[in-house]
This record gives sequence, C-alpha cells and structure tokens, in this order.
Amino acid sequence: MNFNITATIHLGRLRYNFEKISDIVGSNVSIIPVIKADGYGHGIFEVANTLCEYSNVAYLGVAHTEEAVLLRQKGIDENILVMSCMHGTDFEVMHSLNITPVIHSFKLLTDAIGFAKDKGVRFPLHLKFDTGMSRLGMNIEYAEEVAKLCSKEKDSIALEGLMSHFSDSESDSEWTLVQNDRFKSLIEFFESAGFDVKYKHIANTGAFVQHKETHFNCVRPGLGLYGYLPSADLKKTVDLKPILDVKSQLISIHELKKGEGISYGRTFRAERDMVVGVVAFGYADGLFRNLSNKMECLINGVRCRGIGSVCMDMFMCDITDADASAEDEVVILGSSGKETITADELAEKSGTISYEILTNIAKSIRAQKVYTD
Ligand SMILES: Cc1ncc(COP(=O)(O)O)c(C=O)c1O
Repeated sequence: MNFNITATIHLGRLRYNFEKISDIVGSNVSIIPVIKADGYGHGIFEVANTLCEYSNVAYLGVAHTEEAVLLRQKGIDENILVMSCMHGTDFEVMHSLNITPVIHSFKLLTDAIGFAKDKGVRFPLHLKFDTGMSRLGMNIEYAEEVAKLCSKEKDSIALEGLMSHFSDSESDSEWTLVQNDRFKSLIEFFESAGFDVKYKHIANTGAFVQHKETHFNCVRPGLGLYGYLPSADLKKTVDLKPILDVKSQLISIHELKKGEGISYGRTFRAERDMVVGVVAFGYADGLFRNLSNKMECLINGVRCRGIGSVCMDMFMCDITDADASAEDEVVILGSSGKETITADELAEKSGTISYEILTNIAKSIRAQKVYTD
C-alpha cells in the first residue's frame, strides 16, 4: 500500500475567496479569475467548474491555447480568455470553440484579421498594451496606428477588451499608478476613437486589494483566489483562506546520537541525542531542496524542524518533542492543532514567492488530489 500523500483542495474556501474579492470590487466590476498553470496547481478543471457558478465571471483567464481547449473538452462552457501563449494558427480552434485571444503583438493582430477575412467571420478579441511591465503587449506609442487598423477592419474583428499588466503592484504604489494612468489614457483614446470597449482590465491581486482606481470595470485576480497575497505587507487588506493543504506520513522513526550526521552530505549534526522521523515527501513531490535544514512540518500539533538534506522521496525531521509514532500524519502545508504552515512561510525560507511554492508542490508525482467543500 502506498504512503498516503494528499493535496486537499478546499473548494468552499475558493468560493469564500472569490466572494471576498467580489465584495471588494463591487457589483459593477466583472472578474476574470486567473486559472492558468493548472489553476496555480490546484486543478484547472475543478477551479473552473467552481467559479463558473458566478454570474460576475467575465472570462476564465488562461495562459496557453491548450489550457482553454482542455477546459472545453471537459465541458466548461464559460467564456475563456487566452492571455499569453498562442500562435496565429490557433485562431481556427479558438474560433470554433468560442475561445477569445488576447492580441499582444502587431503580428497576432494582422494574423487575426487575416484569419477572420479568410473565414468570413467577425472574430472577437482583446488587445493588450504594454504600460511598463515590458513583457507582452503592444507599445502604447502605437495605439493610434492600432486603433486605425481596428476601425478599418471592424467587420472582421470585434474589440471586446483592452488590457495591460502591472509589474510591481504588490510593492510599488507610485509606479503602479503611473502604469494605471497610462492604461486610463489608452482607454480614453480608444473610446474617443469611437470604440465601445466592453472589458477594461489591468488589476492583478496586488493591485485590486490596494487601489480602487485600478479596477476599471474588470479585474484579473490569480493568487488571491487561492488564498494568498503577493506580499506580507498586504495581509491586513483582506482576509483570505489558503485553499490547499498538503499532508504525508511518517515512514520510520529512529534515534540520532549527539554528534552524528544525517542525510546526504551530512549537512546537519545532532547537537543532542534526538528522535528522528522520516517523512514520505521529497523534492520529487515539489519540496524545494533548498529548504533543507530550514523548513518545519507539523506532527500532532507540534512544529518539527526539518534536518539534513531533503531527498528525492523523503525528508527527515526532529520529532523529539512530538510524541510521534510511525505512520503519523505530517502536515507540509496547512494546520495541525494551533499551528499552521503556509506557502508564504515556505516561500520566505526558500527565497521564493508563494506562487512558486503552490505550483511546484502541485507537481508532486504522487500526491493524490482530494477535493472537498
Ligand atoms: C496577465 C496576468 N493577469 C493576471 C494575473 C494574476 O496575477 P496575481 O496572481 O498576482 O493576481 C497574472 C499572473 O501572473 C497574469 O499573468
């Protein structure tokens, strides 16, 4: 029998987070839940299926065309917006499955027009402009040229949305508002050129929790849906609940004498006689190896520090004070007794961000995903 490694996803908490976000932005603002990368690791289909119950969802936001096609194949009929990774050759499948592209380059725009003309259809799309992230999006200096082309080709393309993306919304309000002003001017320009743009969206989690002026009439939260905020400084802005718990089990228990080393490279030496628990969870389960000697886990409500190098399928922890027995439950993410370990804690200890902890742990080759309310 396998050791029980479970990733429990609490869909009730996902609903709670979504409703909190809806309250913050208000009823005049639609939401594009960002569910790319397998719903930030939580399962794209289950997250989509839960959120499409809500009437204020404008689209489900994904990164790749393939993610959108997968959702359609699984029966999701909500509007879907592909925000980043697409080829002009994807427009055929997008059109046939009612999937909307975000056109972020002049080349994609001319491909979209060419596709619509060949097909004799009017193709709905959103346009993305770069306001300072310098990743994807057309340069705002070309807004006039782009608007003229869209006007000329209005029988082939339907401009349903304008978007941009913030680079530092969690940490630099001044810069965020500069980007926001650029976006606002862009919208005003398109509207004065006669476009009636249905969706105007730029705000990610860091922005929508802090700056009402970034909401326009649509926001694109990702991390917040899953219960996290992109910076510790934002904790007081809204009370969200992490939706993922990850648990495993102790495989074995042994004693370690003072002065003895443990695990590959013996990077930890016992400073006293101790009891060691071996946990069935390692870097193949998405635990960063640089958490070696830094992380903690929870056993019977007690914080147990990880000792020695994290291995492929296991890590070791000090259970001297945990009163543990073989096969006891070990919490990697989540709560036990009064203690809680969050993705923020692991992120801080491994020098990364909670986004990476969530998507990486979700790659576990063994964790069984369990969905619960
Ligand atoms: C284009 C785009 N919009 C929105 C988001 C959501 O951002 P966050 O998870 O910070 O809310 C992302 C995430 O990376 C994104 O790439």
